Amino acid sequence: MAMYSKEELLQGLQTRVIGKKIFVFETIDSTNACARTLGDAGGDEGELVIAEFQTSGRGRLGRSWIAEEHTSLLFSILLRPQVQAEMAGLLTLFASAAVARAIERIAASRVECKWPNDLLLGGKKFCGILLENSLQQTALRYSIVGIGINVNQQTFSPEIADRATSLALHTGGMVDRKAVLQSVLREMDEMYPAIREGDFDFVVKEWTDRCTMFGKHVKVLQHDHVIEGKALRLHQDAGLVLSTPDGPVTVYAGDVTIIS
Ligand code: BTN
Repeated sequence: MAMYSKEELLQGLQTRVIGKKIFVFETIDSTNACARTLGDAGGDEGELVIAEFQTSGRGRLGRSWIAEEHTSLLFSILLRPQVQAEMAGLLTLFASAAVARAIERIAASRVECKWPNDLLLGGKKFCGILLENSLQQTALRYSIVGIGINVNQQTFSPEIADRATSLALHTGGMVDRKAVLQSVLREMDEMYPAIREGDFDFVVKEWTDRCTMFGKHVKVLQHDHVIEGKALRLHQDAGLVLSTPDGPVTVYAGDVTIIS
């Protein structure tokens, strides 16, 4: 099956901002890269780029995001909220909360949020989010929220097989990708008026309620070093505050493992 047409995706969507305009590709380098081009060209917020296949899908920390055709949702949304550049990290929580709400209804299971940008079902990752910001001094010109959701995968490559899942594997049945996409877009659209004004209180709460790491001893792996400490809370800019032997430390990137 080819990617859905723009018309099919728009049919019955009824959102106010998110996904008002949709660009559909069979193959693209990266939907995030394309959405940045739209952002640079003055595109309107809410514009959405979706593809069946990415030749250079981007993941966090310079990694690639590899997804076979026909099984995933790979899309990016252009946003222009009125937030200071230093608070832009909160947009990841916004996207996470929207995906979590949508998937909890579809999969009838609780979704877990893992700092900074992963969503898990049954302890395994099914969704990754990649936020890319364009800054103008201290202001945010635009932000791209890129979302990859494993929907109908039945297998994963050996390197990630023990840590990855899909909605189909979790629920035990094939899942309609269009329904998932529309549901995520509607959740984002509902939350966006507050987000656009810089009100993140409710997404911080939704995210924190779904996070299991607070109060635990964790290890944050950064490029060339490891920080260990107790995960205390989210910083107001979405960083992770750790209590370490050297005092409190806020981290902004890295891979977290719970030790105990
Ligand atoms: C991660 O977990 O490392 C983030 C993965 C984000 C992948 C999505 S797929 C759609 C969008 N386009 C990209 O190139 N990346 C994001």
